Amino acid sequence: MRGILHQPICDILGCDYPVLQAGMGGVARAELAAAVSGAGGFGCLGMVREPCDLIRREIAEVRHRTDRAFGVNLIPAATDPDLFTEQLKTCKDEGIETLVFFWDVMPEAVAHANDLGMQVLYQVGSVDQACAAEAAGAVAVIAQGVEAGGHVHGTVSSLVLVQQVAAATDLPVIASGGFATGRSLVAAMALGAQGIHCGTAFLATTESFAHDLHKQRVVQAASDETVHTDAFVINWPKGAAVRVLRSEVTNLLGDRLFAHDPNTIPRHQIADEEGKPIYRWSTDSPLRSMQGDLDQLALFAGQCAGSVHSIRPAKEILQSILDEAHACIERNGMGTKLS
Ligand SMILES: Cc1cc2nc3c(=O)[nH]c(=O)nc-3n(C[C@H](O)[C@H](O)[C@H](O)COP(=O)(O)O)c2cc1C
Repeated sequence: MRGILHQPICDILGCDYPVLQAGMGGVARAELAAAVSGAGGFGCLGMVREPCDLIRREIAEVRHRTDRAFGVNLIPAATDPDLFTEQLKTCKDEGIETLVFFWDVMPEAVAHANDLGMQVLYQVGSVDQACAAEAAGAVAVIAQGVEAGGHVHGTVSSLVLVQQVAAATDLPVIASGGFATGRSLVAAMALGAQGIHCGTAFLATTESFAHDLHKQRVVQAASDETVHTDAFVINWPKGAAVRVLRSEVTNLLGDRLFAHDPNTIPRHQIADEEGKPIYRWSTDSPLRSMQGDLDQLALFAGQCAGSVHSIRPAKEILQSILDEAHACIERNGMGTKLS
C-alpha cells in the first residue's frame, strides 16, 4: 500500500509520503518541521524575512532532532533583495537541498538558488504562474486554491486549479489549500497531483510555534468562519490577500475587505515579541513568543479548519491522513488507477 502513496515527488524531496507541511512564517519552526519529516512527511521551516542567524539556528535544531530531509520556505517577492541573497547563501552554507518559494514567481530567484545547487518548489495560485515557475526552473509546483489559510495568491478553488495546473505543466504538482485529511489526499491524486501541502492542519499541532490561542481558535472554527481580505497587509506588498478566522477585528471591516494600502494604515501596536512591536493589521500571527492583544492579530487559517477537531502531535495527524487515504483507496478499488 505504501507503494501507491510513494510518488516520484517523494524521491525528489527525500521523504516517504507525499504530505508536505507548509512553511508557515513564525509558526513552522524546527520542532514542527522535524516532527513532520521524522514521521515520513516533508517538513519545512517557515523563514520568510527571518534573519540569517535564526535560519542557521533553526536548521541546526531540525538536524539535532531528525536526520530526515526537510526544506526552507522563503518569499522572494516579499523580502528585501539583500536579505534574500543572504538567506539563500545561508541555506546553501547549511547544506539545504530544497527551497519552497511562494508569491509572484521571480525567475532570477530560482536561477540564483539553482546556481547555488538548491532545488526549488514554487507555490502558485494560477495556471500562468505555474507555467512561469516551470520556465524558471522549479522542480515542482504547489497549486494553491483560494480556500487556503495564510497568504492566498489566486482566486480559484483547489478543485478547479489543481487539475488545470496538472494539465498545463510537465512538473510534479502538489495540491494546496483545503487539504487536511486522507480523503483529500486521494482526491488530490485523482486531480493529477502527486501529494498535498498542508498548513492549517499542521498549525494545530503540539509542535507548531503558533500561540495556543490561535490553535484553539482553529479547532473551534467551522469552515464558513474564515474571511478572505487584504486588510492584514503591513509588511507585505499592497493587494496581498490572506485568509484568516473571523474575529472582532475582521468584523470592523464590514464590507470593505479589499483595497487596503499598507503605506497608509496607522501603526497601532497591540502586542510585542521580545521587545519588537507587533502592529494591528500586520501579517504577524500570534506566536508562543508574543504577548498582548493576540486575538486582534491575523488568525491565519484555511477553510479546512472545520476538519481540524483537536490539537495533536504532527506524527498523529500524518498517520491519520495516511490511514484514511489507504482505507479510501481500498474501499473504492482505486489501487491500480492511482499508482
Ligand atoms: C498560519 C499560516 C502561515 C502561513 N505562512 C506562510 C509562509 O510564511 N509562507 C508560505 O509560503 N505560505 C504560508 N502559508 C500558506 C501555506 O503555504 C499554504 O498555502 C496553506 O496553508 C494551504 O492551505 P491550508 O491552510 O488549507 O492547508 C501560511 C498558512 C498558514 C495557515
